[in-house]
Amino acid sequence: MAVARTKIQTARAILPEGVSIRMATVGDAAMLARQRTTFLRELRPRPDPVALEPANRSYFRRAIASGQCRVWLAVADGAVIATSALAFYERAPSRRNPSGRDSYLFCMYTVPTWRHRGVGRALLIETIRHARAAGVTRIGLHTTAAGRGMYERAGFAFTDTEMELRIDRARGQPRTRPSQARDHDVRSRRTEPR
Ligand SMILES: CC(C)(COP(=O)(O)OP(=O)(O)OC[C@H]1O[C@@H](n2cnc3c(N)ncnc32)[C@H](O)[C@@H]1OP(=O)(O)O)[C@@H](O)C(=O)NCCC(=O)NCCS
Repeated sequence: MAVARTKIQTARAILPEGVSIRMATVGDAAMLARQRTTFLRELRPRPDPVALEPANRSYFRRAIASGQCRVWLAVADGAVIATSALAFYERAPSRRNPSGRDSYLFCMYTVPTWRHRGVGRALLIETIRHARAAGVTRIGLHTTAAGRGMYERAGFAFTDTEMELRIDRARGQPRTRPSQARDHDVRSRRTEPR
């Protein structure tokens, strides 16, 4: 997991001509769900993530309406060419995060024909700016190889203390017994961006 806590980038990024950024509304939920299918398919085609589309549509409707999630859209010629999203949650305050206001960055996606023109960076900067204004003191994310440089330049750094346990949804049990934990950790190290 990469995290931005300090030295976050705040300079305005320059958007290519004709591109603008707006915040998504509930009315964008269906488009966001379709675009998320494309994004997930690009990361891993099988099993086809289209099965998740109705659940994603419902998620974006609920989460945008409640403010639990904010999504930014880069638009050119009336079409959405890139997205970034921030989900907010609260943890017990700590010395590293005194407000306890935490967030997770996801759905960072630029359509292939618009890549390498600074659109992703502009959305990222806008998202960080919003998080800071909202009093959030930490942004977590899972990166791909394609996103790594962009995140590092914006101030994100890898942490080496995070662990996770994947719960087996079918049986409600951890997938491994405690004695297998070391193997399990190795297998689950490759976490996907969400
Ligand atoms: C990762 C991703 C969102 C980046 O979007 P993007 O719009 O291409 O982002 P940017 O253009 O701001 O930056 C991408 C690269 O282009 C470079 N770049 C930016 N403007 C440029 C320009 N005008 N000319 C040439 N290169 C440029 C950046 O320096 C960056 O280089 P790097 O990959 O070596 O770090 C996009 O590649 C994508 O959607 N990938 C698939 C999904 C994914 O991996 N998402 C991240 C999940 S965590």
